[in-house]
Amino acid sequence: MSTWIRKTHSVETQKVEEFTGEGAYHGSTKQKAPDAPRPQVEAVPEARPATLERYLADGVARIRSFEACFPNRLRTVEQLAVPTQDEVRDDGVTFCWCPFEEAVRLAGPVTRSVLEGMRKGLTGGKRHVYIDSKIQYFEPGDLPVDSRLRHVDGSIAVRDRRVLPYGASVLHDMRARLEHGNPPKYMAYQSSEHCATGFLSRPLHLRIPELIPNFDAFDAAVLAARTTEVAHPAGAILAYDGLTVHWATPATSSGWRLWIRCTETDVEIVPSASIIECYGTVFRPRSI
Ligand SMILES: [Fe+2]
Repeated sequence: MSTWIRKTHSVETQKVEEFTGEGAYHGSTKQKAPDAPRPQVEAVPEARPATLERYLADGVARIRSFEACFPNRLRTVEQLAVPTQDEVRDDGVTFCWCPFEEAVRLAGPVTRSVLEGMRKGLTGGKRHVYIDSKIQYFEPGDLPVDSRLRHVDGSIAVRDRRVLPYGASVLHDMRARLEHGNPPKYMAYQSSEHCATGFLSRPLHLRIPELIPNFDAFDAAVLAARTTEVAHPAGAILAYDGLTVHWATPATSSGWRLWIRCTETDVEIVPSASIIECYGTVFRPRSI
């Protein structure tokens, strides 16, 4: 198991795959890849699919809907100087669910300065603090992940036989996430002018199913609500949480981008040995 990798990044060696919209991250519509990181246990309240458990205990056969309110908390922790393209490309080390202090020790200079900025924004209220990061080269239209659906991070996803009575292979327990009240906390950084995550920054009331098999209908509902969207400014560290709606947007021009996410969670996450190898892949829509 490795949570970091040090390598030389170049345009020639940037991994590219065709965009399918079915990525295992960011609002998956598929089962996670077999080697994707998984929560070890659901023993912590933060990860407990309490709605699904109630359904099964009470014999509820049909998924109900409810009035959800996504507060979309979003604040700027720090605005850093935007690094040069060479500085981003040459930063070397990237992370996948790496414990925070280990990441600080191993990081290249740009990443380390971001992590020191993130340190100031840590809430300290969760058992684990992890760092994910990617150094990616985009052509115009490329996406940093294989999905552009509006979603929340760290949803309570169940992928076992408990979801079978509902005709699904995965169910995200949206009601449990909203009712728990203390979702995972995140900070994100991105270095680029040309590929910015979109965020909602105002509360959004939405009637949604309590359990959802993917984020397709959720994405459409958020879009239809015509809410205010903001783009992640280059060089900014933003703080948000597991109730903040956001999504990947395609690159508008070519160039390098460093993306870093800090996750504070009660769930212990152990990535598999191989996932770090494909973690920086970019996704290119098929040209028409
Ligand atoms: Fe996300």
